[in-house]
Amino acid sequence: MTEQWFVQLVAGWIGLGLVAFVALQFVDAPYGKQYGARTARAWGPGVPNRLGWFVMEAVVLVSFFGTFATMNAAWSSPTLLFAALLTAHYVNRALIYPWRTRTRGKRMPLSVVLMSVVFNTMNGFLLGWEFALYADRGLSWFADPRFVLGALLFVGGMALNLHSDNLLIGLRKGGDTGYHVPRGGGFRWVSSPNLLGEIVEWAGFALLTWTWSGLAFFVWTCANLVPRARANHRWYRERFADYPPERRALVPGIW
Ligand SMILES: NC(=O)c1ccc[n+]([C@@H]2O[C@H](COP(=O)([O-])OP(=O)(O)OC[C@H]3O[C@@H](n4cnc5c(N)ncnc54)[C@H](OP(=O)(O)O)[C@@H]3O)[C@@H](O)[C@H]2O)c1
Repeated sequence: MTEQWFVQLVAGWIGLGLVAFVALQFVDAPYGKQYGARTARAWGPGVPNRLGWFVMEAVVLVSFFGTFATMNAAWSSPTLLFAALLTAHYVNRALIYPWRTRTRGKRMPLSVVLMSVVFNTMNGFLLGWEFALYADRGLSWFADPRFVLGALLFVGGMALNLHSDNLLIGLRKGGDTGYHVPRGGGFRWVSSPNLLGEIVEWAGFALLTWTWSGLAFFVWTCANLVPRARANHRWYRERFADYPPERRALVPGIW
């Protein structure tokens, strides 16, 4: 049984995620396409883009494994798998993805990196704590419908995320750091299939782990990525006169 104080902490954290969601209706997170001379002035000093991605994403692994290790908990089969899925995602996001992007010379605000470090440290802590103390359900969990559906969503979402990020990275040749209209894969239907894949992935993770911290991670992912998908869609439509009119922002055929 999860302790009351932990559930209250996660509930407060989810509440903060909802506040972030409301705030992001009024301001575009200033990195990537949304980072220009004006935003650079408003958000303070910048750091190299790839270094920023590495630092802000790597802290999840440090925070998660640091917390789990200090709890001195036993690795059961389900928790081992939960940790392996989290690790697979963050090994790519922190150690591989930044160095594959064609963003040499680009920067992002240090303030954004620091805010992400706070979010990711908290996220890793909550997941590590709950996995260590409350997520051990024994082998029968692998046959539970919540695990099976969650695992399908996780794998499908991750595949869409990776494939879409690959298509975006492949748009730039040589030293090009400009923007082009992405085509193929999930881009046939939406402007940000990579973000859609990420959202589906963490929905699956919340389901397959059936944890409060997994739910909080999913809420925060939506809070960050739904407004970003809207900003991306608007950005493409303003920049490219030939942008496919049937393409939606995030949800195929709907929005
Ligand atoms: N779980 C979360 O809360 C969370 C939060 C943020 C991001 N993420 C994940 O992190 C990854 C990156 O996120 P993001 O928001 O930076 O994605 P993004 O804006 O789609 O950019 C992804 C990469 O593709 C490049 N790119 C984007 N559009 C392009 C175009 N039209 N032409 C050429 N290159 C283009 C970007 O370069 P530039 O940097 O030069 O724009 C960047 O290197 C995604 O997989 C996302 O799901 C997760």
